[in-house]
Amino acid sequence: MPESTGLRIELRGVTKTYRLHGRDIDVLEGIDLELEAGSVTALVGQSGSGKSTMLQLLGLLDQPTSGRIFYDGQELLCARQELQEVFRNRHIGFVFQFHHLLPEFTATENVMMPGIIAGEPMTVARERAQALLERVGLAHRMAHAPGELSGGEQQRVALARALVLGPRLVLADEPTGNLDPATGESIHDLLLELNQELGTTLLVATHNLDLAGRMPRLLRIQGKAVLEGPPQE
Ligand SMILES: Nc1ncnc2c1ncn2[C@@H]1O[C@H](COP(=O)(O)OP(=O)(O)OP(=O)(O)O)[C@@H](O)[C@H]1O
Ligand SMILES: [Mg+2]
Repeated sequence: MPESTGLRIELRGVTKTYRLHGRDIDVLEGIDLELEAGSVTALVGQSGSGKSTMLQLLGLLDQPTSGRIFYDGQELLCARQELQEVFRNRHIGFVFQFHHLLPEFTATENVMMPGIIAGEPMTVARERAQALLERVGLAHRMAHAPGELSGGEQQRVALARALVLGPRLVLADEPTGNLDPATGESIHDLLLELNQELGTTLLVATHNLDLAGRMPRLLRIQGKAVLEGPPQE
């Protein structure tokens, strides 16, 4: 993987309200938060509390209703959409809760995709993709299409795809959700190794309080706010 150093993230007064059928759904309100460059943070909260929403805002996949988000001190929301897309491709690795693999391509081709979009030669993109698929334990499934893989295997392909360009920020939404405890733990370890090797800033939304509790920082979403520490019993 290429060299990278983590992105520093700052949120100032970030609010997200969805509008659906003429009704407002307030999900996040007045969030002020900093994620240091190279930090590892778990994000927990009940189903529907706003974890995926938060990751989508940080991953430039959606815009806050109000407030500002800074990446190494720079605000990108007012930049041209094209620039946002280039920034996302080069610097942000997104592991979706529902993995969004391309069904008509093999595992290797799915993992090659970010490299191809970034203009890498095919041979380089292929080598990188294969190396990462080996690391997530899928050396024997590289030529399979997503439909020929188990749910957990698909999730590991999605993880490899998110990491393949050595992103400066990794946003992982339930990356161990469909996995047995041992495989889940190995994915968790892989994310932490990446952080150690590349200094990648890492934010992981999860329902697994055990894995979350082993991360240096734990945040929870509660009552539309982001608070420090695990949920109170
Ligand atoms: N596009 C949308 N339009 C309207 N409401 C939405 C939209 N996306 C999410 N919501 C609502 O926003 C709230 C937060 O959703 P979100 O997906 O962020 O929760 P979550 O914490 O990721 O939950 P889970 O643990 O189940 O994945 C939910 O009540 C959801 O119904
Ligand atoms: Mg979610």
